[in-house]
Amino acid sequence: MPISVKTDEELDLMRQAGYMLAQVHEKLHEVLRPGMSTLEIDQIGEEEIRRLGGIPNCKGYEGYPASVCISVNDEVVHGIPKAETILKEGDIVSLDTGLTYKGFNSDAARTWGIGHISSEAEKLIEVTKQSFFEGIKYAKAGNHLYDISRAIDKYVTSYGYGIVRELTGHGIGRSLHEEPLIPNYRKLTRGVLLKPGMTLCIEPMLTMGKRQVAILDDDWTIVTADGSVSAHYENTIAITPNGEPEILTII
Ligand code: MF3
Ligand code: CO
Repeated sequence: MPISVKTDEELDLMRQAGYMLAQVHEKLHEVLRPGMSTLEIDQIGEEEIRRLGGIPNCKGYEGYPASVCISVNDEVVHGIPKAETILKEGDIVSLDTGLTYKGFNSDAARTWGIGHISSEAEKLIEVTKQSFFEGIKYAKAGNHLYDISRAIDKYVTSYGYGIVRELTGHGIGRSLHEEPLIPNYRKLTRGVLLKPGMTLCIEPMLTMGKRQVAILDDDWTIVTADGSVSAHYENTIAITPNGEPEILTII
């Protein structure tokens, strides 16, 4: 499948799906507090997605059982919400969720600290977010895909954090995961040419320690191999005709 290029009408639906998801993340950020279970967060997320008129796109995806992927501390992505997983002061929690609206998908992730967290964890979260913004600077028609990857790698490496390689960003549209894959590390080529109407999920996943990851026995949860903490930041974006990329999943 070639990379899908959206018409103006399709882009408008992507925009609506993105705006709805930004509201879901805002709601989740508001309710997060120590003592809460990750299952409660998932339930609030699903309720908010449906209240806004969307359909959760994680739930049932290849059998994934929840609407919000919730990954705590050394969990990188795809953690499964549970009644027994209770957030406590000092934890960092990554929330990765998405929705479908009128046939189009949005996908975004945020990492938040619970109460007071260590300054090291604070810094990891900040650099993870900023690495997205370093990457998106290159998300312009006429640039090439891996220019984005290179910019993320260059910025992150200057802080010494690990960049997870086993998972990448991706195209998005009528399907949650479309071509192309978007690595967060440097490639030897520049990759495909970026064109207006392409919609992409850029999603750096960083670790405080080494970059290697492992998968838990639940066959979903990706954790750092060395037990170090991890952060994730993702938005759905559009390549525009006027040069500046548009972020669809922020308010
Ligand atoms: N938003 C997630 C991603 O792009 C979706 C995960 S699929 C799920 O990787 F099955 F884990 F939900
Ligand atoms: Co994604």
